[in-house]
Formats: sequence, structure tokens, C-alpha cells
Amino acid sequence: MTRRSSSAVVGVDGLEYMGLATGLAFAAKGWHVAGFDINPAVRAAVAQGRSPYSERGLAELLHTQESVGRFQVVESVEALAGAADAIFLCLPTPSRPSGRIDLRYIRTGSEELARALRSAPGRRLVVVKSTVVPGTAEGVVAPITRRFSKKGSERVSVASNPEFLAEGTMVHDALHPDRVVIGTSDEWSRRLLFRLYAPFHTSVVALTPSGAELVKYSSNAFLAMKVTFANEVSRVSERLGVNVDDVMDAVGRDPRIGRHFLRAGPGFGGSCFEKDLRAIVTYAADLGLPFRLGRATLQANADRVDQVRDLVRAVLPRPRGRRVAVLGLAFKPGTDDVRESRAFPIIEMLLREGATVQAHDPVAIPRFRREWARLYPGAKDRRLRFSSSIPAALTRADLAILQADWSVYQHWSAVWSRRMAQPVVVDLRRGLRRRFRGMAGTRIISLGVGGSSTSIQVGRST
Ligand code: UGA
Repeated sequence: MTRRSSSAVVGVDGLEYMGLATGLAFAAKGWHVAGFDINPAVRAAVAQGRSPYSERGLAELLHTQESVGRFQVVESVEALAGAADAIFLCLPTPSRPSGRIDLRYIRTGSEELARALRSAPGRRLVVVKSTVVPGTAEGVVAPITRRFSKKGSERVSVASNPEFLAEGTMVHDALHPDRVVIGTSDEWSRRLLFRLYAPFHTSVVALTPSGAELVKYSSNAFLAMKVTFANEVSRVSERLGVNVDDVMDAVGRDPRIGRHFLRAGPGFGGSCFEKDLRAIVTYAADLGLPFRLGRATLQANADRVDQVRDLVRAVLPRPRGRRVAVLGLAFKPGTDDVRESRAFPIIEMLLREGATVQAHDPVAIPRFRREWARLYPGAKDRRLRFSSSIPAALTRADLAILQADWSVYQHWSAVWSRRMAQPVVVDLRRGLRRRFRGMAGTRIISLGVGGSSTSIQVGRST
């Protein structure tokens, strides 16, 4: 990539979901972007305009930005360091068994980048976008960067800029952020980041690097807690025969609470909430501080499968030898990501109870199979089968469990019900209820609803 003297070039190191969406958003806002990934297969796919991930809008954005020449894959970290003024580290930070984050990729990535920065001209900014515990940008990345680049802080700066992209809406979130949070230790870095984000027309909150890092964990912990709160209420509302959505809708109309993230379900999944909660809980414990709400949220989420088991047993008191269709393997609709999907503990519970599972997902079956083999090595359970079509998954099933509410499942057809041995659906997301009303012969049991719930009407009092 050739540098233009007038305009800054953005670099992205790591082209997984988040790095790719981040880089493409900068390109869409008019910056020239260079992207690098250590994995040659990812580089090759992206360079050929193929998104390695199933994420709404990502392939289209990649195609557009590559064709107009604003996004380019480079073949080495040296090329990245040579081309870009600000390089965003978008590297994975997985959980270690202790709950602490594994900084291996951040350390090696920073070191490689720093070596490459030795010969880079001018001043450079390394921006940590990966989710890292407070103190990482300043205490880990900055010292590595200075040591291996052999440059002082006047030649390479390190900043923090956490991301708030949710899978399934990543492209939208990257293009239209609610806010941008930056953590800088010098004026030059602050100005450069303000400049790079100016075309996004959103508020930029400027903090210290540690402050910015803490914002990320606090945001995810709070969102996970909100979901868990609705989940806890769902058990009570189920007993009362009240629809949890009606309750949480009324609760969320208080602007101090807000209506988002109050949809009860089988528990939160995904690569972020659990990992980040574990990290902040252990980080706080290392400081001698109890993060009680974090610990309680993790525990309550782990126990969610009990409510699903109770709903299953209400229909199939003895699941042994019965067929259960599990619809939706992704951790939520709109993505093929299955990390921490609730489908794992649910299927594990069903197999333990002796049922045969027929699983379906519109896109996530290949990733789910691989992750299942990784989690349960050597376990060749013949009672778990994958079906490429919804009718095949439902064939002779005694029960269907809707785990992720993909829109394809919303268009439920009477033909599907007829494929089942008994047409009963346990709807963990309450997406089917309204459509099903009046469809004779299909029984629907919704998590958080209970027996005799009626929907409340919202009207004005005057
Ligand atoms: C989450 C945050 O929403 C993003 O802001 C953040 O940037 C991201 O983590 C990250 O740290 O990278 P994500 O994990 O992709 O994004 O997905 P969410 O939409 O937050 O959903 C997480 C889980 O909570 C899913 O299993 C979803 O089904 C569940 N959920 C969400 C509910 O059960 N109910 C709700 O009301 C909302």
C-alpha cells in the first residue's frame, strides 16, 4: 500500500470478525486501510473479497471497499507497520482456566509489530482494540512496543480504544457507534484518534488507557447482568402465569432502566459476556476486591439450563429414548458463531437424560460440529445428529426446542408440525407464540410465560 502524505492510513492487525469490521468501517468513512492477519488463509480469503465469517453485511462491505481501493490486505506485519499511522491491535484474548485473560497473542503480536516498527518512518500509534483488563495497554503493550521497536514514547505511542460491536449487527455497530471510547496518555495520540473518528459523527469519550479498558468490562458486565435479571424474573413470572416480556417491557419503560437487553432466554452465550465477566471478577479479586454481582451473574447464567430441563420434563417426563429437535445452534441469530452457545449445555443435558437429539441451524452446523468435537473429544454420540433442513430435524420428534430465534423458524408451518411424532415446541425465546395462536393441534410452551398468560395492551391513560 502506498502512503499518501496528506491523509492518515489506518492499520488493522488481526482480521477476525472484529478486526475486519473495524477496518472496513474506517475504509467506509474514507480512510485508507491496510489489514494484516497472521493466518495466510484469512489473508487470502479477505484479499479475494471473501469474508471468512458469516456476518450480516460484511461480505458486501468488503467487496465495496476493496473495489474502490480503500481497503487492502498486506502480506507482512512490516508492510503494515510501514503503511499505517495508527495500527489497531484486534487480536484474540481468550480465557484461561482461572478466568484471567490469556495475553499470549497480545504479547507476541505487539512484539512482532514493534520489531516491524523499528524501520517505520515518522511517528506511529499502536491502539489496543482487543478486550484487555485495565493496565494492559500501559503495563504490557507499551513496554513491549518500546523495547522491541527501540523507540521512545515520542516515536511510538500506545492507546486503548475498546470496541462495542455485537455479532449479527457488527457492520452497523462499526459504522454507527453510539459512542467511541479512547484512552490515551499524550496529546498527539488523542488528536489522531479524534481525527480518525471525526467522520463517524459520534461522541468521543477520552479517558486514560486504564479508564477506557474498564469501560469495556463494565459495559459487558452490566449488559450480562441485565439479561440475567430478566432471566431471574422469568422463573417467577412462569410460576405466576405472567408473560415475562410484558413485565420487562413495563419495567424497561422507565428511562432509568431502559428497554434493551431485557429479553429472557436460556442464558447469555457468545465469546464475550462470560469471558469478560470471568476476567473482571478475577481481576478485581487480584486487587483484593469482591465483584459480587459479576460472580452472581455467572452463577445464575450457569444454572439457566435447569429451567430448560424443567420445561422439557413438563412435556417429556421421561426423555430417555425420545427424539428432541434442537433448532438454532448459534449463540444468537444472525451469526455462525457458536462460542458459549446455550445449545451446548442444552444438548448435553438432553443426551444425559437419554434423549436423541436432531439439531438444526441455518448456518452454524459446521462450526458447532467442530466445537462439539473440541469440547467432548472422542465422544462419538450416535444420539446427536445434525439435519440440514428444518423438516428433517423435526421428523418423528417428540418435542422441538427453539434455542436461537432465527427468522426461518418464525415462519413455522403446519407441515412441520405434522412431521413430528407429537407437535410440541418449547420456545426459549417466545418468538413463536403470536404466530401459533390459533394453529390447532400444536402445543407451545414458552420460557417465562407459564400457563394462562394474556398479552397486555399498551395505551394512553388520557
Ligand atoms: C456483546 C456486546 O453486546 C457488545 O457490545 C460487545 O462489543 C461484544 O459483546 C464484545 O465484547 O465483543 P455479542 O456477544 O456479540 O456482543 O452479543 P449480544 O447481542 O450482546 O448477545 C449476547 C448473548 O446475550 C446472546 O446469547 C443473546 O442471545 C443474549 N441476550 C441478549 C439475551 O438473552 N437477551 C437479551 O435481551 C439480549
